[in-house]
Amino acid sequence: MSTATIRPVQIAPSILNADWTRLADQISEAEAAGVDWITLDVMDGNFVPPITFGAQMASAVRALTDLPIEAHLMVEHPEDHIEDFIAAGVNCVTIHIETTRHPHRLLQRIADAGVEAGVTLNPGTPMSELDAVVPICDRIQIMSVNPGWGGQQFIPESLDRIKQARTMLDACGRERAHVAVDGGVNESTIAAIVKAGADWLVAGSAVYNDRESVADAVARLRRALPSD
Ligand code: DX5
Repeated sequence: MSTATIRPVQIAPSILNADWTRLADQISEAEAAGVDWITLDVMDGNFVPPITFGAQMASAVRALTDLPIEAHLMVEHPEDHIEDFIAAGVNCVTIHIETTRHPHRLLQRIADAGVEAGVTLNPGTPMSELDAVVPICDRIQIMSVNPGWGGQQFIPESLDRIKQARTMLDACGRERAHVAVDGGVNESTIAAIVKAGADWLVAGSAVYNDRESVADAVARLRRALPSD
């Protein structure tokens, strides 16, 4: 792509921090607030300590919204689960490079199913672990917290990794692929994150919290985006 690719910034609230006793309302509030995706943080209690939910939750959320859904699999052996999430109707499956011996084959399987293939890595995993799969992924997701919980502090060293991810994707002609960021995205970090090259942002506690409505929270994030 000869001219600099302009990528609109997409916001994907994670339901991890939503009020699950009124999930339908929380999702419709996010829709009305103009978010672009819904993210499901799937945790198995092995790869990360907490357990959240499985593909049945994806089916339930699918029935609640027409927004595209990302399943972020923080699970060991994701190869055992991707078909269930694809059958549940998610639009992107993001796997952790640390959780499978066959990431290339797994990302191909996700893409062959017509679903966006995302790869992510923990803050302690070298970016070079992604080298072999960058040419076949639709997004690199930078974990800017150690996964497992919402409401954590953004790890500032993630900014360099965001830049590296954009460079890696562009270097192999994947200009249309996203650089996603997950963890500690809020009004004080969002401008630096986007300036570093991210265009797809997971936001949990910045959207779902007890300080303000979802509409006000999303508007606050959008106002904090860099203007240039
Ligand atoms: C893993 C989860 C969280 C969550 C975002 O920890 O992936 O990163 O989605 O939570 P916040 O936006 O509150 O850091």
